[in-house]
This record gives sequence, C-alpha cells and structure tokens, in this order.
Amino acid sequence: MSTQHSVLDLQSMKADNRKIVMVTAYDYTMARLADAGGVDMVLVGDSLGMVIQGHEDTLPVTLDHMVYHTRCVARGLKKAHLVADMPFMSWQRSFDQALASSGRLIQEGRAQSVKLEGGQRAAETISKLVSAGIPVVGHVGLTPQSVHTMGGFRVQGRTDAGAQQVIADAVAVEQAGAFCVVLEGIPGDVAAEITQRLAVPTVGIGAGIHCDGQVLVCNDLLGMDGSFKPKFVKRFAELEAPITTAFERYAEEVRSETFPGPEHAFRRKAGPRRVAKLY
Ligand code: KIV
Repeated sequence: MSTQHSVLDLQSMKADNRKIVMVTAYDYTMARLADAGGVDMVLVGDSLGMVIQGHEDTLPVTLDHMVYHTRCVARGLKKAHLVADMPFMSWQRSFDQALASSGRLIQEGRAQSVKLEGGQRAAETISKLVSAGIPVVGHVGLTPQSVHTMGGFRVQGRTDAGAQQVIADAVAVEQAGAFCVVLEGIPGDVAAEITQRLAVPTVGIGAGIHCDGQVLVCNDLLGMDGSFKPKFVKRFAELEAPITTAFERYAEEVRSETFPGPEHAFRRKAGPRRVAKLY
C-alpha cells in the first residue's frame, strides 16, 4: 500500500487552505532529499532536457527518457506524490498514443499521475485519459513545448485577450477532469483569478503568490548554476561554489598524493592472533 500523497490528499489541501509544495527531480538521490525535506509533489519534468541533458529546450526529450528518470525518482519517494511529464509529441498523434504513453509512465515509471501541456487544445485528450483512470495535471500559460509557437519562452496573458485565453485554457482543463493545474509564466493577477475560479488546486511557477502551491526546478532553487537566475526563481541554497570547491580539493589531493590517506586504505586480513599463554 503506497504511503505517497494521493490525488485526493492534494485536492483536500486546497479545501483546507494548505499550500502545495512541488519541486522537480530527475534521479533517485534528489528525489530522496526532496522527500525528506517534506515536499508534497515531485515532478519529473521534461525540463530534464535542459537541466540533465544540456539542451536549450525540452523538445528533444523522449518518452523513453521520461520513463527512465521517473523510475529512478520513484525509488526515492516515500511520501511525495509523483507526477511525470508527457514529453513533446508523446500524445498529440492519437488517443491511443496518449493512452500508451501515459500508461508507460505509470506502469514502468511508477508515476501516480501525468502532466500534459496545453489548454483548450489538450482538453479532449485529458478528458479521455481521465475516463481511462489516469490522473492528469494540466499545464497552461507559458508552455515550454510550444517554444516555437510562442516565439521564445515568453510570459503569457499580459494583454486582456491573452489573459482571457489563459483563463479559458485553465477552465477547459479543469472541465476536462485535470485534478490540478500548473500555471507557468503569467501575471500574478491572472493566476489569482484562475485560482479563485477553479475548484482544483493551481500550482504556480512565475505566476505570483496567489496560487494554491508553487513549483520550482530543483537545480534552480539549489543554486547549482550561478549564471542562471530568471526573475521567478529564488535560490534557497548556493551550491555551485561548494560543489566546485569540493571537486577542486579532491583533484588537488589526488595530485599531491594526500588522498587516499592510510585511513582510507584497506589492509590485508590479519593472520591468526597468537595467544600469549596457553595454560
Ligand atoms: O518540466 C518542468 O520542469 C515543468 C515545471 C517547470 C512546471 O513543467
């Protein structure tokens, strides 16, 4: 029996006015640490395209990549709910494709739910997945898989018409049956209006304080890349410098033959101890 937070647990958090804490993770160790830190949801985001694989966007990420990383993360979680991203082109071809892709993330990856980018255009697929028993998290506003359509990673909903579109998208995915909606890169007042209108929880990234929860990419909040600090990120640690320093110290000690010291070295098994006096 899983001890991880269920869809119902997360929904009751909105009803009880408790904020939902979500973070991304891509491997076992980070998942274990996030879980120990008490986060409510761990997202295996296709942001792994940038963070893990070093690409400029999420488009090269495949379903196989997502299944692999989701399975690694699943082994590190005891309490946090595990949601996995449906990568670019893993569901658009047909409902059968959407069902097969989400099925793999749940059966092989051990995710409890899947996240799918897109508002009105994704609603029909979401509705069919939910009917098939697959819990879905929606994702509207700045949807990184649409980078080429948006003309870059642009904040959405800044004009009246744009705001109305994002609101309509959020309502559409809720009506389709999404149990939670990620709001990314939209003005805070638009996110506040959506959060007030939806019965299901909203989780924001670059969407202001008035969401039901917040999500950040783990490497961003841990300060793993000192040169990367978008406006919506707050660093809760500055790990780039101590990690680099640790590698430098290790290199220096290997080269100067300071490491390994005698305390790190194995010795041959000691022979039988001689008894000093037998009788
Ligand atoms: O891929 C991802 O990490 C995401 C979050 C930033 C919401 O979709």
